[in-house]
Amino acid sequence: MSTSEILRKSRNDGESLDLGEIEALLSLDDSSLPELWGVADEVRSREVGDDIWLRGLVEMSNYCASNCNYCGLRRDNSKLTRYRLDPEEILAAVDAIAGSGIGTVVLQSGEDPYWNTIRMRGIIEEIKARHDIAVTLSLGFRDRRDLEVLRAAGADRYLLRHEIANAETYTHHHPDSSLRDRVAMLRILGELGFEVGTGNLVGLPGGSVRDLARDVDLARSLGVDMYGVGPFIPHPDTPLRGARGGNALMTYKMIAVLRIVLRDVHLPVTTALMTLDARARERAWSRGANVFMPNATPLAYRSLYELYRNRRSLGDALEEIKECIECEVESMGRRLGRGHGGTMKGRMLP
Ligand code: 5AD
Ligand code: SF4
Repeated sequence: MSTSEILRKSRNDGESLDLGEIEALLSLDDSSLPELWGVADEVRSREVGDDIWLRGLVEMSNYCASNCNYCGLRRDNSKLTRYRLDPEEILAAVDAIAGSGIGTVVLQSGEDPYWNTIRMRGIIEEIKARHDIAVTLSLGFRDRRDLEVLRAAGADRYLLRHEIANAETYTHHHPDSSLRDRVAMLRILGELGFEVGTGNLVGLPGGSVRDLARDVDLARSLGVDMYGVGPFIPHPDTPLRGARGGNALMTYKMIAVLRIVLRDVHLPVTTALMTLDARARERAWSRGANVFMPNATPLAYRSLYELYRNRRSLGDALEEIKECIECEVESMGRRLGRGHGGTMKGRMLP
């Protein structure tokens, strides 16, 4: 199939692109990219409208029991100062998010056994008692029984990136887990009625363009609601300190192709992409993305959530960040979404 035929199929029937066609889109040369961005923007507008959704991010703890090769929070990184927010700090951050009119809070943490199911249940129930707000969890691996409790406590969504859809490369970078277990957990989340988010890293050593096409294909087969993609940024205190890292252009291609294939998902512009490109929001939002996750972690801890160095920050006061983003969004002819902003693609609630 020629490039123009694949692009035509992308516009009308992108969910049926095969693996080779997805790889061809990711390999398009620069002259075809404006058309790729245009198709992605058109599909975005048709499938999820013009709203851009904010999700307030609270990084609860940077303790991590896992040892992912690429991540500054890995347990073997003894140079990192570890912190854990207490419940009052978490709830104050959530109050600020709800107070600024943002409809979703994302509670994120390394794999921290302290934040076990019972403690998390208490936090989720308190948030739900205080606010009409969607709760997204991003806490790493949990088993089915724990996930049932968290869901019953009121958690609406769960993010767990599969990171790379190649079992061998996955194992190389994640000594503590397997791709199979990760995918199994994503399926369980769907069965329990969570809205489910996965995602991958662009430019992990050992990864290929074919693997990126497999990332897209895996998300399609899981029917996910959300997908986060960002460039891998080498961290000096990890085994991958000398690696090259991912690039912004391939990340934009992934955003566009994810929109074309997954149609009505929520796609954020990630902080990792913003760290590589100062114009990331405007570019990503016009190439398929429709979400942004402002950081609401108390300022004193923010630089310690060091997945990679020099994470771009938009400032400290949430109200100010929100106003500045609202301006940006409106100058693009878009608007901020109001309410929870979920997808619930027809999934049955238990
Ligand atoms: N560069 C970019 N992203 C990273 N993550 C972890 N370490 C890095 C890094 N060095 C991402 C992983 C994880 C998410 C929370 O952060 O994809 O799922
Ligand atoms: Fe821990 Fe997540 Fe970092 Fe892996 S990517 S080391 S699980 S915080």
